[in-house]
Amino acid sequence: MMEWRQVAQSREVREKLPKKVYCNGEQIAVYRHQGRLYALLDRCLHQGAPLSDGYAENNYAVCSYHGWRFALEDGHFQNNPAGRIPVYPVKEENGLIYIGFGSELPAGAGSDV
Ligand code: FES
Repeated sequence: MMEWRQVAQSREVREKLPKKVYCNGEQIAVYRHQGRLYALLDRCLHQGAPLSDGYAENNYAVCSYHGWRFALEDGHFQNNPAGRIPVYPVKEENGLIYIGFGSELPAGAGSDV
């Protein structure tokens, strides 16, 4: 069953630059891109740097360290879709942002490049 946890206020998550949040034992990067919200595990597949130090561009989360790009929608690595970053359901209600955690692993969990 999905459990929604409040992670931020709406005004804290702006276009382009992600916000780093901590929830459910994970560090997560929350993005607002072209009006939509996305939440990705805040750990780059390359060398584990925080994606929240980067930015969003053309529907991808860009890692600021060496430029790897991950789809905001499902976390897949642009250069090798077999590699994925876990993504989380995210919603906004009454000025607050929530991330959903369920009994299943997030999409892409456990996959490697
Ligand atoms: S650590 Fe993200 S691209 Fe290298």
